[in-house]
Amino acid sequence: MNLPIPLGPDLLAQITAIDPTLLGDIRSDHAGETGAVMIYRGVLSGSRDPLVREFALAHLATEQRHLAVVEAMLLPGQRSVLLPLWRIAGWFTGFLPAIVNPRAVFATIEAVETFVNQHYEDQIRKLPATGSAGSLRAVLRECQADEVHHRDEASALRGAKCGLVLRLWTGLVAHGSRIAVVAARRL
Ligand SMILES: [Fe+2]
Ligand SMILES: [Fe+2]
Repeated sequence: MNLPIPLGPDLLAQITAIDPTLLGDIRSDHAGETGAVMIYRGVLSGSRDPLVREFALAHLATEQRHLAVVEAMLLPGQRSVLLPLWRIAGWFTGFLPAIVNPRAVFATIEAVETFVNQHYEDQIRKLPATGSAGSLRAVLRECQADEVHHRDEASALRGAKCGLVLRLWTGLVAHGSRIAVVAARRL
């Protein structure tokens, strides 16, 4: 990740004056990146597998950078009031597959990042390429590129087709992510 332009609350205020829905978008991004950091902490708490731990540590560092970037855009009062819930949900989303096996971890990350890629894409499409909105767009593109890389890496490591239980779990994770975004946009 090579972030082009630092964004702050002032710049976000300019952009949200044009499109008020953007505040909810960035609040949901902040909630999501908070959850992402906690997913990898959960994975690291649950797995001793060297490959899983190496994967989780590298991704954790990226998610911490994403979190710092989106956090810098929001005033403390603009963050989701449900952050404690996103932290707990994120941690269990990483911990539960980690105590099962590496494949479950990689399938979970693939499901999460598939969702996150689309989530960022929906936001990026709304933003013009120039001015302050263009700066935000460039930052979100950088984050999205990292998430796509995470998804593809997880997908390659997951290997063969998933069984029924794992498919039910990853479906639940994707559905939970959708609900979390809807909630974090508002609260
Ligand atoms: Fe991220
Ligand atoms: Fe990610």
